[in-house]
Amino acid sequence: ALRQSIPPKAQIEKQRCFNHVQPQASYKVAILGAAGGIGQSLALLIKMSPLVSSLHLYDIANVKGVAADLRHCNTPAQVFDFTGASELANCLKGVDVVVIPAGVPRKPGMTRDDLFNINANIVKGLVEAVADNCPDAFIHVISNPVNSTVPIAAEILKQKGVYDPKKLFGVTTLDVVRANTFIAQKKNLRLIDVDVPVVGGHAGITILPLLSKTKPSTTFTDEEVQELTVRIQNARTEVVEAKAGAGSATLSMAYAAARFVESSLRAIHGDADVYECTYVESNLTELPFFASRVKLGRNGVEALISFDLKGLTEYEQKALEALKPELKASIEKGIAYAKKET
Ligand code: NAD
Ligand code: LMR
Repeated sequence: ALRQSIPPKAQIEKQRCFNHVQPQASYKVAILGAAGGIGQSLALLIKMSPLVSSLHLYDIANVKGVAADLRHCNTPAQVFDFTGASELANCLKGVDVVVIPAGVPRKPGMTRDDLFNINANIVKGLVEAVADNCPDAFIHVISNPVNSTVPIAAEILKQKGVYDPKKLFGVTTLDVVRANTFIAQKKNLRLIDVDVPVVGGHAGITILPLLSKTKPSTTFTDEEVQELTVRIQNARTEVVEAKAGAGSATLSMAYAAARFVESSLRAIHGDADVYECTYVESNLTELPFFASRVKLGRNGVEALISFDLKGLTEYEQKALEALKPELKASIEKGIAYAKKET
């Protein structure tokens, strides 16, 4: 009798696996540029998400191996691979979130703008396919220079008649991740508690961490503000120089991008109170695109959060005014490119 009451090992195993392989939700995520430095790490992190049922990996080469490798992880998401332009449409059909880290990364001495010509063309081609195959998806643009590639994407979507400004995002989460890390270290705060909004854009002085809005409420000397702001703005260079020609941030970027994907999926799933900083079409300043904290909902940006920009310190106010001409020029460069190319 005792023997009978114990389920056979195979059955226990089946039960355990069955429970384990059920995703908590069934969203589909596509990564375009999935065989790259960011793409591979991001694919691994998304494979671990209980909200994801299908992970679609696309690249121009080397994506089959990445997918085969990931498929051995016993987490719910099923992994599909797509190689080359002829498979792109199938990759995109039915997806909820498209993440675009395709393109070339920076080498020492290059600015993000030096990447413009190559990456602008890559982003343009990919966004055209998104417009044709999954126009309702959230689009997360990682490819640099983000300050220009997002306006390019917006123009392409407009030309295709499917632009929804609430669903097009430039991923600036890495700036927030860096700001939180550096501030927690400097001020001896618990990492998990620290939250600082970063506004503006994603290049040099256009990255503006609003230290006066740090949570938990923290005071900084003028020297600390200067040092931390400059470190956050130039953090990319720490990585580019340390990698010495082998590329730019990939692991911290994948971590940040995975957080933004998870937040987007939670918002799509109906969670209230999902807030992230991101570079989006905006009316918070006179610039048509601007990174700020936004409230995310089922349909994308539910609200742009303006209160971070109220009551700025003199330092922040000056820095905000100083970043506008550069950000404006990058936006205009992107729009001009998209108009010329079509
Ligand atoms: P990488 O060279 O390692 O990977 C890029 C991948 O894109 C490669 O696998 C390549 O085959 C693929 N690719 C190229 N053309 C493609 C196309 N037409 N379609 C699909 N895939 C294509 O580069 P990486 O280190 O992963 O960086 C990717 C991009 O992300 C760069 O532009 C980099 O500057 C940017 N980046 C952005 C941030 C940010 O905070 N937004 C942070 C780090 C890096
Ligand atoms: C970063 O912030 O690290 C990336 O945008 C990569 C780069 O080239 O600056």
